[in-house]
Amino acid sequence: MANGADAIASLDPGVAPVASAPAGSGIVYLDGRYVPRAEARVSVDDRGFLFGDGAYEVTRTVDGRLFEGERHARRLARTLGGLDIAVPGAELAALDAVALRLLRENALEEGEAAVYLQVTRGAAVPRTHHFPPAGTRPTIYAAVTRFVPPAALRARGASVITVPDIRWSRCDLKTVNLLPNALAKQQAVVAGADEAIFVRDGVLMEGAHTNLFAVLGGELRTAPATNYILPGITRDVVLELARGDGIAVREYPLLASELPGATELFVTSTTSDVLPVVRVDGRAVGDGAPGPVARRLYELLAARMYGS
Ligand code: PDD
Repeated sequence: MANGADAIASLDPGVAPVASAPAGSGIVYLDGRYVPRAEARVSVDDRGFLFGDGAYEVTRTVDGRLFEGERHARRLARTLGGLDIAVPGAELAALDAVALRLLRENALEEGEAAVYLQVTRGAAVPRTHHFPPAGTRPTIYAAVTRFVPPAALRARGASVITVPDIRWSRCDLKTVNLLPNALAKQQAVVAGADEAIFVRDGVLMEGAHTNLFAVLGGELRTAPATNYILPGITRDVVLELARGDGIAVREYPLLASELPGATELFVTSTTSDVLPVVRVDGRAVGDGAPGPVARRLYELLAARMYGS
């Protein structure tokens, strides 16, 4: 079920996902135990499997340190609260330590890695739509993998397609219910593009697994953090960096009809950093090459992440 970490480097079609060890090996964390991936088993009655009833986070690590770990922990707690999944506070607080131990167990303390963490409402019989009895233990799964930043794609710029936003109205919760996102991304891949951008009522919301920014009239624009987008951690950090760098920023809906006037477009996420977008639905953005605002913001993000 939870193999998100395996696909972590896949935004760059030129760079194959790199696992720290052959697929199916490595040590993962499941419900309090560190076990070989091939031996990890989740119940067929797990509500993550049956209903997509769970939350997840993806966090980068550099030389054994979590990047923006506190913000990811806060967002996980917020998603769990929104889904009404109760995880004992001590267990939640221990998840950073779980991630660090996984890095150690998998010899990933040096260099870059990504942590995938998933919490579901747990397993219960019989299957009911309403919640299982109080006391049903949430299932907690975590895994780490070697991460390779998409440098080649960043240098040449990504192409995206636009797709109708068919998602529900709680896109602000980071749930494992990712079917519309998976369908959208598949559509992009089939079209030879790198990402799909959801459009709701003529407004560009965000990507299938990224947030979207535009440079319009000399101003940096991104959708406001409503219930219709995920409040990305990278989005937050990039907004902070832009403001600190004197770039004019506006969190305001970006209309699809405004796209021809955009001089730059880029997407952000934990696994794509700041990634310039040079084509939308086959049409060039600006002069068709990665732009200076995206380059500057990537440099600032990298400085924050790598401490240079
Ligand atoms: N995706 N929007 C959506 C729908 C996402 O799934 C993601 C992250 C983002 C960016 O959020 P952040 O900057 O916190 O990574 C925006 C993760 C990486 C994933 O599903 O793999």
